[in-house]
Amino acid sequence: MIVLVTGGAGYIGSHTCVELINAGYEVVVLDSFINSKEESIKRIENITGKTVVLVKGDVRDKDCLRSIFKNYSINAVIHFSGLKAVGESVANPLKYYDYNVMGSLALTEIMAEFNVKNLVFSSSATVYGFSDNKPIPETSQLSPFNPYGQSKRMVEQILEDLSKSDASWNIALLRYFNPVGAHKSGMIGEDPNGIPNNLMPFVSQVAAGKLKELSIFGNDYPTKDGTGVRDYIHVVDLALGHIAALKKLNGLMIINLGAGAGYSVLDLVHTFEKTTGIKIPFKIVNRRPGDIAIYFADATMAKEKLGWQTKYSLEDICRDSWHWQSKNPNGYNT
Ligand code: NAD
Ligand code: WQD
Repeated sequence: MIVLVTGGAGYIGSHTCVELINAGYEVVVLDSFINSKEESIKRIENITGKTVVLVKGDVRDKDCLRSIFKNYSINAVIHFSGLKAVGESVANPLKYYDYNVMGSLALTEIMAEFNVKNLVFSSSATVYGFSDNKPIPETSQLSPFNPYGQSKRMVEQILEDLSKSDASWNIALLRYFNPVGAHKSGMIGEDPNGIPNNLMPFVSQVAAGKLKELSIFGNDYPTKDGTGVRDYIHVVDLALGHIAALKKLNGLMIINLGAGAGYSVLDLVHTFEKTTGIKIPFKIVNRRPGDIAIYFADATMAKEKLGWQTKYSLEDICRDSWHWQSKNPNGYNT
């Protein structure tokens, strides 16, 4: 079975390619390398011992997509490609609607042209916006409050309408919470451009001495220690969730992919220190605008529908994050 993985050179896509190959699938990757390096494809091949077909191109380019579907008998698509920085989306919304919405439209139009109707889409828990639910089920109200989250919700709506119009489509909308960690080999991992926005890569770079200290955005939230609580999911667990969804594709599925538990910023920092033996200096600063106190998944739907649940712990996440960071201090810039 051949799976087209758009954005397959990226953080989650590369880990998913490894697990797809391990599960016996053949993989074709489409990536423009706007936010990744070709080195990650070489690493996937080193880990799996298998060749990855790579098409360097843009998912918004319909002729490029047509050439892929003409040259390879694609059975299903996992659609990762897109932009994901919340802050950047606020500053440049049109870019996010172009990449995330227009890219998804182009892809689904060409899939329909070639009668390929099996699709797994990378959505995000950001579509829930400010939710009072703890944990958050898939039936929660959807109120994204930034262009990034809105772009994800727009694509979800497009795919929901497509499914209603043609029951022969099999679509899984997977809402990820906080993907973190790295493959146990330390050969692939998260490689953010510049100063990381997200907590785990920032902590890893402090541990590596690349950054001086962690700024904790607020310790006055209504949580056990005042710091923000999130649902951290190991990226390999997340990758395996995509395999499970691929195998269970049937009609339209909307599913949270999360651990179903929340950990605070200080929980993560202390676990990282205990796991690695490395002290993480930090200071408490003001809250980051737009941050929410507590956010974690109701993960029961994934277990019921996909027979999938996370198996890696916060300790595993910290260990694997540090292993990647320490082996690749400059990410994929070899
Ligand atoms: P990433 O930036 O590492 O990977 C995305 C990949 O897509 C990159 O390799 C990039 O070069 C490629 N790409 C972007 N636009 C493209 C285009 N127009 N044509 C072809 N390739 C293009 O991001 P990631 O963390 O792996 O996220 C993958 C998907 O999961 C994204 O859609 C993101 O919105 C979603 N997601 C990520 C998170 C997270 O915290 N990482 C959480 C929820 C959802
Ligand atoms: C986690 C916690 C921060 C950095 C983001 C996107 C979301 C999704 C996942 C794409 C929070 C705190 C962080 C730092 C800190 N991406 N923090 N100091 O904000 O939950 O989610 O990534 O879909 O759309 O919003 O993740 O890692 O940025 O923050 O104190 O330097 O760590 O306040 O409580 P977030 P994060």
